[in-house]
Amino acid sequence: MKVSVKTARPGESRAEGLVIGAFEGALEDGDFGSINKSLGGRLADMAKRRKFEGKEGQLLAFESLGALPAGFVVAVGLGKKEEASQEKIRFASGKAARAVKASGVKSMACSLARVAIPNVMAAQVAQAIVEGACLALYSFTQFKKDSDPLRLEEIIVLAREEEQEEAAQMAAGAEKGRLAAEAVAFARDMINMPGNYATPSYLGAQAQAMGKKYGFKCVAHGPAAIKKMKMGGLMGVAKGSSEEPRFIVMEWLKGPKGQKPIVMVGKGLTFDSGGISIKPSLNMHEMKSDMSGAAATIAVMRAAAALKLKVNLVGLVPTAENMPSGSANKPGDVLTGLSGVTMEVLNTDAEGRLVLSDALAYAAKYNPDCMVDFATLTGACMVALGAHCSGLFGNDDELIAQLNEAGKRTGERLWPLPLFKEYEDDIKSDVADIANIGPRGGGASTAAAFLKKHVKGKWAHVDIAGTAFADKEKGYIQKGGVGVGVRLMLDFIARRAGLE
Ligand code: BES
Ligand code: MN
Ligand code: ZN
Repeated sequence: MKVSVKTARPGESRAEGLVIGAFEGALEDGDFGSINKSLGGRLADMAKRRKFEGKEGQLLAFESLGALPAGFVVAVGLGKKEEASQEKIRFASGKAARAVKASGVKSMACSLARVAIPNVMAAQVAQAIVEGACLALYSFTQFKKDSDPLRLEEIIVLAREEEQEEAAQMAAGAEKGRLAAEAVAFARDMINMPGNYATPSYLGAQAQAMGKKYGFKCVAHGPAAIKKMKMGGLMGVAKGSSEEPRFIVMEWLKGPKGQKPIVMVGKGLTFDSGGISIKPSLNMHEMKSDMSGAAATIAVMRAAAALKLKVNLVGLVPTAENMPSGSANKPGDVLTGLSGVTMEVLNTDAEGRLVLSDALAYAAKYNPDCMVDFATLTGACMVALGAHCSGLFGNDDELIAQLNEAGKRTGERLWPLPLFKEYEDDIKSDVADIANIGPRGGGASTAAAFLKKHVKGKWAHVDIAGTAFADKEKGYIQKGGVGVGVRLMLDFIARRAGLE
């Protein structure tokens, strides 16, 4: 996507498509009002006829037939002005961009950053416009012979004509949005890619390709090294599959010397059949998305490097395929992880915590500032929260609060869930240090308690089981891989490292 910022009135824009915003009940204000004037009041008449009042998500689209330089115009409702936010702009921009694309034009000017929003800087609005549009226009067509021929190739973010300095800040915001959205699309591609293509070795190769392209260090360890490092959890899960596991280590250490790194860890099950404790077949194909945490981690490394963030950042991805076979883990088997903790595998479908345990133990080697893991870990978390937020756990209140705030800003909302001592008692084993499942209730918390046993230092765990893969289109999210966690972590990292 070509992205730029120009200081111009929307009525002067040369782009083929034009997006203007309107706050609820304030159609006479701003660009909607001025375009209405230049159209002799006919826009307001049309709005009245079609009941367009500027309510959140409302669209009013029309061909201008020569009355304006832009041939196709979409007015989008922004809701109540006092409730405006970056996320609402992202949502509106995405919705409008879809409508503009459907009209067949190739370029779009967007004037949503020309209205002042309380407490949000123009640069952040520009970023939200670009993110919303790019994310909404994403599609995964690699395996389709006939795909949508329409292409929207250029977005021009319009700035207030008298504000040159603000326009420069907006250009930086727009570029940030473009790189973040590209990274999310990259994560979505890996998630949507079928399991027979997106194998652990494929994820390793993707990470290495990104490292080479953007300049971060990347090593994808194979089974021999994984065994040598004594990663019994990862090896135990992987041994039921003919696909080799990988342990991917990515380093972007461009922050101040001596500043402890932030470590991001992502669960990378490229397919989770459940193993010997096999899953029911209904919707089992969606378990190709069980590497969504891994995809987010590789994408964050890519974006951090592309943005040249002055931070110390490490990404760790344990990746394997969970399959039933003659060499697979059996219920009752005991594995010894890198942390030395022995783990009884009572259910081979609780495999995510086994592979994560080794990555979390490995993270200690960096003496990190903090570590944050992203994992499609439990159906229980999905049952508790649905698709509207991810579950958040951790052992440090400040870290939890910072992630929560980043979630609000990016629209990738989190909700805290408990990690009481009792959940740790729930995973006692008769034969090993811990068991990989607890009693029937509290599955998201017992899974988090399992992870905690392998952690040294400040840590948070984000359960994205309900948010990683969408079953329907929603705002700027498509059906399929969401890429959740990428923008959240980019926002969190920049603030945690003191860049913003
Ligand atoms: N990958 C699944 C969790 C999951 C389920 C993610 C649905 C997204 C959608 C995980 O490996 C799993 O199977 N968890 C089990 C744990 C149970 C056996 C304790 C679960 O949640 O059922
Ligand atoms: Mn599983
Ligand atoms: Zn899984």
